[in-house]
Amino acid sequence: MKNTFLFCAVFAGISAGAQKPAVSVEAQAAALVKKMTLEEKAGQMTQVTLAVIAKGGWANEDGSIDPAALKKAVVDYKVGSLLNTTAHALPVEIWRNLMKQIQDEVQYTRLKIPVVYGLDAIHGQTYTLGATLFPQNLAMAATRNPALVRQAAKVTAMELRSSGVRWNFAPVLDIGRQPLWSRFPETYGEDVYIVKTMGAAAVKAYEEDGLKNPTAVATSLKHYLGYSASRNGKDRTPIYLPEIELREYYLPQFREAVKTGSASVMVNSSEINGTPVHASRYLLTDVLRKELGFEGVIVTDWEDIKRLHDRHNVAASPREAVVMAVNAGIDMSMVPSDYSFYELLIEAVKKGEVPMSRIDDAVKRILVMKFKLGLFDNPYPEPASFGNFGKPEYQQNALDAAREAMTLLKNQDNILPLHKHKKILVAGPAAQSLSALNGCWSYTWQGNVDKWYPADSRTIFQAFVEKAGAENVFTTTEKGFDSPQNYDANALRKAADRADIIVLCIGENAYAESPGNTRDLALPEEQETLVKTAIMTGKPVILVLTEGRPRFITSVEPGVKGILMAYWSGKKTAEAIADVLYGDYNPNGRLPFTYHRSMGEIVLYDRKPTEEVREVFNDNINTGYDPLYPFGYGLSYTRFVYSDLMLSSEQMKAGGSITVSVKVKNAGERAGKHTVELYTRDLYASITPSMRRLRAFEKISLAPGEEKTISFTLKPEDLAFVNASLKTVTEPGQFEVIIGELKKLFTYL
Ligand code: BGC
Repeated sequence: MKNTFLFCAVFAGISAGAQKPAVSVEAQAAALVKKMTLEEKAGQMTQVTLAVIAKGGWANEDGSIDPAALKKAVVDYKVGSLLNTTAHALPVEIWRNLMKQIQDEVQYTRLKIPVVYGLDAIHGQTYTLGATLFPQNLAMAATRNPALVRQAAKVTAMELRSSGVRWNFAPVLDIGRQPLWSRFPETYGEDVYIVKTMGAAAVKAYEEDGLKNPTAVATSLKHYLGYSASRNGKDRTPIYLPEIELREYYLPQFREAVKTGSASVMVNSSEINGTPVHASRYLLTDVLRKELGFEGVIVTDWEDIKRLHDRHNVAASPREAVVMAVNAGIDMSMVPSDYSFYELLIEAVKKGEVPMSRIDDAVKRILVMKFKLGLFDNPYPEPASFGNFGKPEYQQNALDAAREAMTLLKNQDNILPLHKHKKILVAGPAAQSLSALNGCWSYTWQGNVDKWYPADSRTIFQAFVEKAGAENVFTTTEKGFDSPQNYDANALRKAADRADIIVLCIGENAYAESPGNTRDLALPEEQETLVKTAIMTGKPVILVLTEGRPRFITSVEPGVKGILMAYWSGKKTAEAIADVLYGDYNPNGRLPFTYHRSMGEIVLYDRKPTEEVREVFNDNINTGYDPLYPFGYGLSYTRFVYSDLMLSSEQMKAGGSITVSVKVKNAGERAGKHTVELYTRDLYASITPSMRRLRAFEKISLAPGEEKTISFTLKPEDLAFVNASLKTVTEPGQFEVIIGELKKLFTYL
């Protein structure tokens, strides 16, 4: 009996009778809200973390549930949602069992409203052991291939759903314009067009099959809004963002994703211009609900209602914090460690501080999501989804994505590709680390515990050995990024005698959120010493960078022959690195951010004219944007040549469009993929225009000698910007189209 959900009874009045027209989920949710008590409603709006019901709380290792704690959560407090894991990822069967126990407990509640469980599957299903991890968003952006984003999302959805989980706290739509920020790797980089394109591709892939289908999950667009713009680069610290910038760079991706159709939005934990976003009726209700037309669930981030009182100090009491947040537009509170929200919300409603209409609105939205997810039909893990976990082809999907992410930044004297018979010393802290290849949210929150990674995961050293044989590859590195041996410059110097080439694997070990805060983007001193030591040996040095944000390598860059930016590219990072360095794969990734030279030279690619021209004692010098490697940079083992940039017209009319075409030829000897990027520049505008903005891109494959004509259609809205009245407009005037070194002018009438 426990396994059978007989919700039909609850809706007998509205859904009985096969001939009657189907009742919309909205109507079903509204009818259910009418039956609910205030306590049941407050419960629906409450989300707690697994540790609250797990045996031993946070220390729980095996996913076992404390029956009394489960009853307290589900029956006594009627919670609508749970999230997260405790210590680390769990086996898929444990997740299914856990879901079953939770939904079984729901049977003992009056209305038997199923619980919705949410997890952070931001680059694959993080919290199920053996799930396939894909490149982080930053690396996905380097692929410039939305089809890969889509594929990764599909696999993630299937592995979530087969774990019994139907709600994903992804995609991250924050834009990576502050390279200090510890969540930079979770972003699709510094350009809003890429963030918007990749974000929408992810949302569509997650939800398009219909949330009832075991191949789909509900998404949560996060973190609305402006989260990445931390002024000092530390996570969850103040943001000062003029609305014109907010609307130009931070809002478009949410607008697009809402249009694509996302079930929920998670809110930015920080404050913008002194107002915590969780308390901003303007951003949550006026902008998100009314202007963007978002109909789904607005969920808080971790503990963020409490923090209105105890961290942001805008609410004088915990109850005031609840009142502020719910009245601003919050539907569900990720409390997540107790039931204070439930108690305080009930109190606030009874005192008339939160109107019942607001509560009903929030609860209805939560129930609509649950209906759409099919939880009322069957809340249990669906047998039809079980076969979708760990399919062998996911490994190839992960490899495809990791390969396309690899971004070759330097290849002096064609040192690459490597010959397989050369003696290679693979050293540096990342050479035998798995966590440094995968980064945050990888089987643990921080991602930094190698033992939880699948047994068939490869380190860079292993991938090299597999490629070129143990007789040709050796290392001075031990397992684990932080092992002191990995920083032993003497050992490196001695071992270099036996090597033809040194491949030095450096960068960052995994981190997530505030533990990833850094005081400096400079490469840590001990790593810099390693690189300098390697250079001093006189052997050619190739740097492999596995990192979540650009750590400065300016001081050592001139001394190395090759640099591969590998990012945190998931399960197949090591294989992809070896494939590229040995030439079995022709690299085609392009930087999704500017690789800066130093802290005092943080200028982004879409700089303004006054950032372009550096004034030095009244001499104007155009070196304002002079990074180590610019946005969009990335080498190949072949050569692509552009010619014949053509416009269908030199005039674009309001409501019209022009076609831009360019010929691209593979002038080298190897087949390769290549992304054609189209930038525009508005010559004069009422708001200082950017020197260039990415407006379109397309990835193609070309055989040696092959030439293709690529066409893009540009419309007035592609040229738009936010003006002083905060309106998105396209002003008449001259525009430049830029593809590679080629440029053409046209006029918008
Ligand atoms: C993060 C969110 C995440 C949530 C739940 C928070 O600390 O900011 O991105 O979804 O935790 O795990």
